[in-house]
Amino acid sequence: MAEIIIVDTPADAGAVAGAAIALLVDRRPDAVLGVATGSTPLPVYSDLRERLAGRDVSQVRAFALDEYVGIARDHPESYHSIIDAQVTVPLGLTRGLVQVPNGQADDLEQAALEYDAAIRAAGGIDLQLLGIGTDGHIGFNEPGSSFASRTRVKTLTPQTRSDNARFFASVDEVPRHALTQGLGTILEARHLVLLAFGESKAEAVARAVEGPMSARVPATAIHLHPHCTVIVDRAAASQLVDTAFYEYVFANKPAWQGI
Ligand code: PGA
Repeated sequence: MAEIIIVDTPADAGAVAGAAIALLVDRRPDAVLGVATGSTPLPVYSDLRERLAGRDVSQVRAFALDEYVGIARDHPESYHSIIDAQVTVPLGLTRGLVQVPNGQADDLEQAALEYDAAIRAAGGIDLQLLGIGTDGHIGFNEPGSSFASRTRVKTLTPQTRSDNARFFASVDEVPRHALTQGLGTILEARHLVLLAFGESKAEAVARAVEGPMSARVPATAIHLHPHCTVIVDRAAASQLVDTAFYEYVFANKPAWQGI
């Protein structure tokens, strides 16, 4: 079962995930991080800014989950731009070691194959950060995605486009397609850390954690992974049934066991 950690605030979640990433980087200076975009991972990045300050992160490698198709790489909302501004620059990572899928490629199928090959060549991802969409997606694996899927182009649901309209002048400007790591790609990371905050994520979290496994809820793929940590605030946990059990398990966790 995935480990469920219920915290009071997104900043607390950022500290839990940030500590795990810092420990990983201490143990493995060329660690391979799987980084995510959206609002959810921001508390992790802001925790890491302080936690990693003074550490040598020049060898740390990173792969983003996804990229829009149909907007320029230098568009402020492209995930190339977002990852650069929110991760690479503030954390002091080496630009050439941070990769984002090439959603601008002429041959997107080839770009997808090359992305999976690059992850494999790096030895795989050590720790993958994940948000969750209100429709249950992880990465841009929308409902119906195969649990065995690899990096490929997906069509964004109207729900996802409307959720992401806040980053654009209007919903019409939100791209309709994205190049995303597949569920099968994500499941190869050695540790998944899924975060969710706020009431708007409560239903998706409950379906992902306690619902039956289904391609209709792509985040239920976490149950196929031997090491997945779900960190949620109380609002995002509000539709979970078994919270007392999750808190009991976490409170009684052996001290030597990290997340
Ligand atoms: P959000 O998006 O972090 O901006 O809520 C999460 C997601 O769509 O995966």
